[in-house]
Amino acid sequence: MRTIDWNDDSNSIVMIDQTLLPMEYKVIECKTLASLCEAIKSLRVRGAPALGAAGAYGIALAATLSSASDMDALIRDLNVAAKTIKATRPTAVNLAWGVDRTMGAISDAYDLSGIKDVVLAEAKNIADEDVETNKKLGKHGAKLLEDGDTVMTHCNAGKMACVDWGTALGVIRSAVEAGKDIKVIACETRPLNQGGRITTWELMQDNIDVTLISDSMSGHVMSKGMVDKVIVGADRITGDAVFNKIGTYTHSVLAREHEIPFFVAAPISTFDPNNWEDTVTIEQRDANELRFFKDVQIAPADVKVYNPAFDATPMENVTAVITEKGVFYPPFLLDELLA
Ligand code: MRU
Repeated sequence: MRTIDWNDDSNSIVMIDQTLLPMEYKVIECKTLASLCEAIKSLRVRGAPALGAAGAYGIALAATLSSASDMDALIRDLNVAAKTIKATRPTAVNLAWGVDRTMGAISDAYDLSGIKDVVLAEAKNIADEDVETNKKLGKHGAKLLEDGDTVMTHCNAGKMACVDWGTALGVIRSAVEAGKDIKVIACETRPLNQGGRITTWELMQDNIDVTLISDSMSGHVMSKGMVDKVIVGADRITGDAVFNKIGTYTHSVLAREHEIPFFVAAPISTFDPNNWEDTVTIEQRDANELRFFKDVQIAPADVKVYNPAFDATPMENVTAVITEKGVFYPPFLLDELLA
């Protein structure tokens, strides 16, 4: 199944609970806005493009649940829902993009049930388009990989971070589909181990050769000549920086030092022409993510903690950005790229 989808029978959002992977594969249903927001905050659904779909389906869910009896009241309910959903996670721009695009569809409706229909249709479009976009992006990116390459990746920018296929892992999947022999080095991605838990699981399901390393090994494997290319996803791309999972910046500096191409794979919906590196809010997460591993205490329970979920990689460290529109080599003007 898709990472996130709409169930027409129960009028609810269904998703794979990613907090349980790889130990348990469980599909959960969000029937209320509160349960969707909880799922986003606790990373049951995660990854920028998947969050775009979650935001879009969230508006459709709010429309379905609303007891408003006229159009104005329904639009008021949806505006409240939009604000609530957007507040769950601040860094991945796709979440707000998915919400806003779905809200934008309201102008095509003429009555109460029309609004409910158009927001659901738009949310489904966003989800379908995500899969097509990733396939296009994957084909563009696959040309950058050579037969026999070993590619290092961080976090999970695969099908579980999207509706399907993936961005960084989508490029790898497309290259493998084109007949290239590609090996992957997956960084575990502390503290929540999206690389160790999800990227490895996804690639092993597809029989793509993957080796897990701890985040602190990336310099070592690069210095040993074990990495040909790095490909990561992105949560937000401004004119001057790429925001992605904490640790990405470190890999970019090391890649530059070792003259290894550093690629970012992301759909156009991840670009943000309205901000710069210093105006983006980086999500700070709970201290206990570092003090505990699940229920096991791994640090003093009251130790001070700094736990940003993302970092900013300056565009100077990026060899190219792979999108559905093609491959773009910095320096580029965001406005021209988005035109
Ligand atoms: O905190 P997460 O797991 O949502 O962070 C996800 C990432 O950083 C991904 O690399 C990014 O969203 C790109 S997903 C195609």
